Amino acid sequence: MTTSASGDRGGSRGGRGSQAGVGGTVVTAREVTRDYRRGRTRVRALRGASVTVARGDFLAVTGPSGSGKSTLLHLLGGVDLPTSGEVLFLGRDLARLSVEERAALRLREVGLVFQRFHLLPMLSAIENVELPLAAARVGRRERRERAAAVLEQVGLADRLRHRPSELSGGQCQRVAIARALANDPALILADEPTGELDRATSRRVLALFQELNAAGTTLVVATHDPELAAGARRSIQVVDGRTRP
Ligand SMILES: Nc1ncnc2c1ncn2[C@@H]1O[C@H](COP(=O)(O)OP(=O)(O)OP(=O)(O)O)[C@@H](O)[C@H]1O
Ligand SMILES: [Mg+2]
Repeated sequence: MTTSASGDRGGSRGGRGSQAGVGGTVVTAREVTRDYRRGRTRVRALRGASVTVARGDFLAVTGPSGSGKSTLLHLLGGVDLPTSGEVLFLGRDLARLSVEERAALRLREVGLVFQRFHLLPMLSAIENVELPLAAARVGRRERRERAAAVLEQVGLADRLRHRPSELSGGQCQRVAIARALANDPALILADEPTGELDRATSRRVLALFQELNAAGTTLVVATHDPELAAGARRSIQVVDGRTRP
């Protein structure tokens, strides 16, 4: 599938969920717990968290530091599996997939955005965005076209060849968002995406998320930033490992 530069990417997003026969739900976590073991001690990072993310949603996950937000995001994206409870992603129970199937699903259907961007410093903006496309075995030429299109979509058409060190923090985050969008995933997960950015730049990232969401992208964002949380369609809190409306 080729994508145009902007706007109408949303039109192609409706397809996958209906193909998977799950109507409007991208992912559901039911009463998930996650224990981390450190030697003999056990940390209960989640103690029963439940959330459903519908197609087209823009959900903010808030709550105190250490409450389990990042852990919940990892479970929603199949980066990690729950100790108990279940996660259904496009109708599929992630725990029942093989490691390879889960990795393939994640690669195709989940775009990850981090606080510190996680761009490769030796690669240009467009090469960074091409990475997940290469991993998904998209051919060279289509890779270039799609990477250029998503970079244009995030407002960086004039920075394709710049390396991260030649870009501002806000621009780096937009490259990271473009990279997350590149495979046209069903879900974008962003963990503290404005944590390293100043107020004005954070607002631009929020505006970009709102624009992407209006065009059909489904987003879940963990954040301490009240403005970002208020700009989402809805929010939930994670407190001491449990979700609250
Ligand atoms: N890999 C790990 N090994 C052991 N404990 C962990 C691990 N990852 C997280 N934890 C613990 O699990 C709990 C929840 O962590 P998590 O990162 O989900 O919190 P958070 O809400 O994202 O916090 P913050 O707002 O500071 O990012 C914390 O007590 C943390 O110390
Ligand atoms: Mg966190």
